[in-house]
Amino acid sequence: MTQEKNSIIIAIDGYSSSGKSSMAKALAREIGYRYIDSGAMYRAVTLYAMRNNLIDEGIVDEAALIAQLPLIKIDFKVENESQHTLLNGEDVETEIRQLPVSNNVSQVAAIPAVRHALVAMQQKLGDQKGIVMDGRDIGTTVFPDAEMKVFVNASAETRARRRYQELIDKGVSATYEEVLANVQQRDHIDENRSESPLRRAHDAVNLDNSSMTIEEQNAWLLDLYNSIINRL
Ligand code: DC
Repeated sequence: MTQEKNSIIIAIDGYSSSGKSSMAKALAREIGYRYIDSGAMYRAVTLYAMRNNLIDEGIVDEAALIAQLPLIKIDFKVENESQHTLLNGEDVETEIRQLPVSNNVSQVAAIPAVRHALVAMQQKLGDQKGIVMDGRDIGTTVFPDAEMKVFVNASAETRARRRYQELIDKGVSATYEEVLANVQQRDHIDENRSESPLRRAHDAVNLDNSSMTIEEQNAWLLDLYNSIINRL
């Protein structure tokens, strides 16, 4: 679908593994919008830091990472209908989803200079509207004027079960207990960091999808989109 006069910005925020990316992707495909996974950008910066020995046992060498931020280029390409994240031209989609990156990403995402750089990139990607972006601060910080905002949640156990299944399906070895611990640790860091902590925007619509199927949540999101677009 081409850009229409009524193209809007859709911000989908929520807790890790709440299913927000799947919903956001499905909606973007359905309505012909561009989909951007902002978490992938934080993950790519984290992978860069790990590869360059800027993280030691969870402690980030902030000064060195900040100095190297201009060397980090993040792009997206679409292949077989799925989005791949490129770090300085290399497809790192698989690597950024694995536990070593998951275990360090909240620490990197808490660094204000990293957030400022990525927020600026995200705002640029939304210049033309017609975009669905998911993350933690899209409705509060990146696009506070987004026409549609959703905040997704589900219990930590439900989210850990989903993430565990995803990893197993991809052939990544992990235990449910370590995935749950990672989900809880990331919730804590994401909610308590001083720079744009995970918060529901006051004008976001809440969705607890603990007991919804994927089809139900996709239908719910599309209904919300239609009701908003019809009012414009
Ligand atoms: O959505 P995800 O689990 O892939 O996100 C990875 C991490 O990045 C998560 O722990 C929080 C952080 N993040 C963020 O701080 N702000 C965003 N807009 C997106 C992700």
